[in-house]
Amino acid sequence: MSIRLGDIAPDFTAATTEGTINFHEWLGNSWGMLFSHPADYTPVCTTELGRTAQLKSEFDKRNVKVLAVSVDGLESHKGWVKDINETQHTTVNFPIIADEDRNVANLYDMIHPNANDTLTVRSVFVIGPDKKVKLTLTYPASTGRNFQELLRVIDSLQLTANYSVATPADWKDGDDTVVSPSIKTADIPAKFPKGFTEIKPYLRLTPQPNK
Ligand code: BEZ
Repeated sequence: MSIRLGDIAPDFTAATTEGTINFHEWLGNSWGMLFSHPADYTPVCTTELGRTAQLKSEFDKRNVKVLAVSVDGLESHKGWVKDINETQHTTVNFPIIADEDRNVANLYDMIHPNANDTLTVRSVFVIGPDKKVKLTLTYPASTGRNFQELLRVIDSLQLTANYSVATPADWKDGDDTVVSPSIKTADIPAKFPKGFTEIKPYLRLTPQPNK
């Protein structure tokens, strides 16, 4: 059964490179990003996990805990982490689930049999502090994800959660945002003291509220 936006992220207990984790407990009040990789000792995955480690401070700034998953075992993960650290000039600083029994992969529908019977695809789930799924994304094994894009989406999700704004096409941090359609134009000045521009009654822009 696939996971849809707004669903409660399935909970699980799993062995990881940083000890056993109960997912919901481990998340606490943080946001979370659970992301899968096809296999250890593969080239694209090596660059992705390295990039994630390099961006740790950016995830921390946004109060996002990252958790990787692949279907290989703990000893394999530990050996591979040494290679990631060496080749990507970083130190892996987040847990990697050893999902040998594919419990997490199956809970999150990360194995797409028509792509590959056994390996996980590149799935991403961003989870809010309410444990609800805010974003899902699926890439094939051959395409490494854009981690700047993941941070950009997290920024957008957090703006929506905190300020009742949406973000337009190609929005970047600092650009104007879109006032949520649920807010009446008459109520905008009180809610958005930085002002607004009404392009159409349904298209109202306001400066990014947290800048
Ligand atoms: C990789 O991570 O490099 C990879 C894994 C499976 C298939 C293709 C590429």
